[in-house]
Amino acid sequence: MSSHGFGVVGAGVIAATHAEAIAALPSATLVAVTDVQPDAAAGLARAHGCAAEPGLGALLARDDIDVVSVCVPSGLHAEVGVRAAAAGKHLVVEKPLDVTLDAADRLIGAAGDAGVAMTVISQHRFDPGLIELRRLLDDGILGRLVLGEASTKWYRTQGYYDSARWRGTSALDGGSLMNQGIHYVDLLRWCMGPVAEVTAVCTTLAHQIEAEDVALALLRFGSGAVGTIVTSTAVFPGLAQRLEITGTNGTVTVEDGEIVRRALVPGVPAGVTGEDGARPAAPAADDGPGGAADPASPGGAADPAAIGADTHAAQIADFLAAIDEGRAPAVTAEDGRNALEIVCAVYESAREGRTVVLPGARDPR
Ligand SMILES: NC(=O)c1ccc[n+]([C@@H]2O[C@H](COP(=O)([O-])OP(=O)(O)OC[C@H]3O[C@@H](n4cnc5c(N)ncnc54)[C@H](O)[C@@H]3O)[C@@H](O)[C@H]2O)c1
Repeated sequence: MSSHGFGVVGAGVIAATHAEAIAALPSATLVAVTDVQPDAAAGLARAHGCAAEPGLGALLARDDIDVVSVCVPSGLHAEVGVRAAAAGKHLVVEKPLDVTLDAADRLIGAAGDAGVAMTVISQHRFDPGLIELRRLLDDGILGRLVLGEASTKWYRTQGYYDSARWRGTSALDGGSLMNQGIHYVDLLRWCMGPVAEVTAVCTTLAHQIEAEDVALALLRFGSGAVGTIVTSTAVFPGLAQRLEITGTNGTVTVEDGEIVRRALVPGVPAGVTGEDGARPAAPAADDGPGGAADPASPGGAADPAAIGADTHAAQIADFLAAIDEGRAPAVTAEDGRNALEIVCAVYESAREGRTVVLPGARDPR
């Protein structure tokens, strides 16, 4: 296992999670951080015992850094990532890859030209419920996929949006779908496969922001299955993030990363870990504690800073192993692009009031 030196660019909320995740990994050391606000970089450096560099150039010039975590506002990911790739650094890019497909493609191209590896953060793929759901799908236990639903009904105050100028802007952030919802968009696509068509409505009802605080979309997948996406930052008190996958053999519901319901048609074998290793199906969660997260619950339903570092650490550990082994990481740049493509199609459909057909999609009918 080689040792990897990290530089973190952008020293805000999520940078602290990266620093914590890096500290948890024996093969990783946080070497330096930088931020356009020197105080932010100095604070993070102090808290984590690393250097604060005065700018991106100085951080990238360090030859004891071989991996850069891109933790700046979303619409600056490509700008920072392209420079880091050109300096020969491997890239851990926060979600979303960027806020436009053009920018995402610039970044993917730059990483390819420089021959550096890249992963886009989708830490919930490492949640226990998702690992188990993925296994059920890989083993074909759910049968032919019928319906997939992803729901992120969270709560953010106006104060959250006012806390930084980039939040809620179209150019640098996007709204509840691009920022908060994209995690479960990635999970939905990971489970259901490529999306062929999107029909959507987006609106801004409860905040003074440019982007949407409610997004609703109907999807048709390339397989012929159908689905929905619901995202909002206007839902008090912030409900559990939910993914529900139905196949011809049954339904699995995940809430905040745990399977809360697993119902298989009688006679369908649940598979090995399904019988003894997995969390038993919870009672119907509609009125139970899994049904509504209170504001103090983990996972960011109401508190943007309430994000644990364990699953970031799991994704970064996989990424470092992938670099060492010369294989693709569990979450590739292409995966990040696929989720972004769905988000952009939702926005386009809502803007133009029509169904958007994704390029390359197989006709599902
Ligand atoms: N994976 C997750 O669960 C998760 C959670 C929160 C945020 N994020 C993502 O992380 C990114 C940052 O979000 P945040 O909440 O930490 O934002 P933030 O505003 O708290 O921090 C961003 C920091 O970047 C700095 N910055 C801006 N431009 C810069 C530049 N050109 N060079 C260096 N520093 C620069 C800002 O000064 C600020 O300190 C976003 O893309 C967001 O979507 C991911």
